Amino acid sequence: MGEPVFELENVCYVYEGGAVALEGVSLRIERGERVAILGANGSGKSTLLKLLDGLYFPSAGEVKGFGLSMPEAAFRDEAFTYDFRRRVGLVFQDPDVQLFLPTVWQEVTFAPLQLGLSQEKVRERSEWALAFLGIGKLRGRAPHRLSLGEKKKVALASVLSLAPEVLLLDEPTANLDPRSASRLVDFIADLGREGKTVVTATHDLDIVEEIADRALVFGEDHRLLAQGQPTSLLADRGLLEQSNLVHEHRHAHAATIHAHPHRHAPFHEHEHPQRGMAGEPEEPAARGPEDLLQLQRLLPLWIEHNREHAAAFREWARKAEALEKEKPGMTRGIAQAAEALDAATQALALALRGGDETDVSHQARPEPG
Ligand SMILES: Nc1ncnc2c1ncn2[C@@H]1O[C@H](COP(=O)(O)OP(=O)(O)OP(=O)(O)O)[C@@H](O)[C@H]1O
Ligand SMILES: [Mg+2]
Repeated sequence: MGEPVFELENVCYVYEGGAVALEGVSLRIERGERVAILGANGSGKSTLLKLLDGLYFPSAGEVKGFGLSMPEAAFRDEAFTYDFRRRVGLVFQDPDVQLFLPTVWQEVTFAPLQLGLSQEKVRERSEWALAFLGIGKLRGRAPHRLSLGEKKKVALASVLSLAPEVLLLDEPTANLDPRSASRLVDFIADLGREGKTVVTATHDLDIVEEIADRALVFGEDHRLLAQGQPTSLLADRGLLEQSNLVHEHRHAHAATIHAHPHRHAPFHEHEHPQRGMAGEPEEPAARGPEDLLQLQRLLPLWIEHNREHAAAFREWARKAEALEKEKPGMTRGIAQAAEALDAATQALALALRGGDETDVSHQARPEPG
């Protein structure tokens, strides 16, 4: 057996409110493996990636990373967290959750700068990541104003710039145009040759054989239903139907209608006539109100990020206090600034809602301590 990167032993994950996301999951991922995670909507793929990234912790069972148990307490140790974050990078399914800085360049350089890489190295890697994804011209743009596909590319670039040895990719090709998706697929194939570990959750069954040496199939009961070589799993019609990855799909062909099993993939196995687009407006609606609406949607996410940062700064301040007398003043200042930012974004969100008293930060976690 190869060197383990992740080991899960009988892992369950239940969200607050009782939604079960994973049930009795045991699996092992080895260094240099490329693994695809397959399953219907809600089967637990994204939750699994967040557990592997040490963002969530199992409700029951154990998750190990690089041979070490990784409970929540382990991430309170700075050396452990630093080492783990440098080795493992997650690209979220929803780029809005990942992106929160004012410019694309800041997003792409953030993680490598945080982890203390030299300025020169950070610049070199970030330029490479932007060029690879063909988004160099977006460097000065605000991420929240980009198209969904552009945001996804920025989210990918912000993890690729870190060059982690383990990449966790949640629906990486979703919303990418065909050329960008195909370049990414080639890139994932190359990463395998470089000995990197890549775990990809995807609904795109057409890319699985290229991006993975092994696939894990999750059932709608949130259990690991099957694992094995992509080619043999994808040939198992019963398994694909059981896990809701294929379905009977009706098609009209001239005068006849037939049904056939159909993959949830972006490319149909045969052509459909294009719907006429006549009568649809060609120009997008005015940007102003649209931007405001988007800002309103994004604010709760920013508030959540601000709160996480404020909590982290408070934690650092406590640690610094124990070590030295001078630093707590500095870190407290940063914590206060983060809290002031939280208050300001909340006030802005409230103003945008026209004084509606509903708490827009309903998605935010309760503050610790
Ligand atoms: N923040 C949350 N709070 C409560 N329940 C959640 C939350 N996020 C996910 N869930 C639930 O957990 C289960 C697994 O969700 P998850 O996002 O992991 O599925 P998924 O396989 O990634 O789905 P998709 O294919 O739609 O991306 C679902 O039933 C979902 O409703
Ligand atoms: Mg998901």
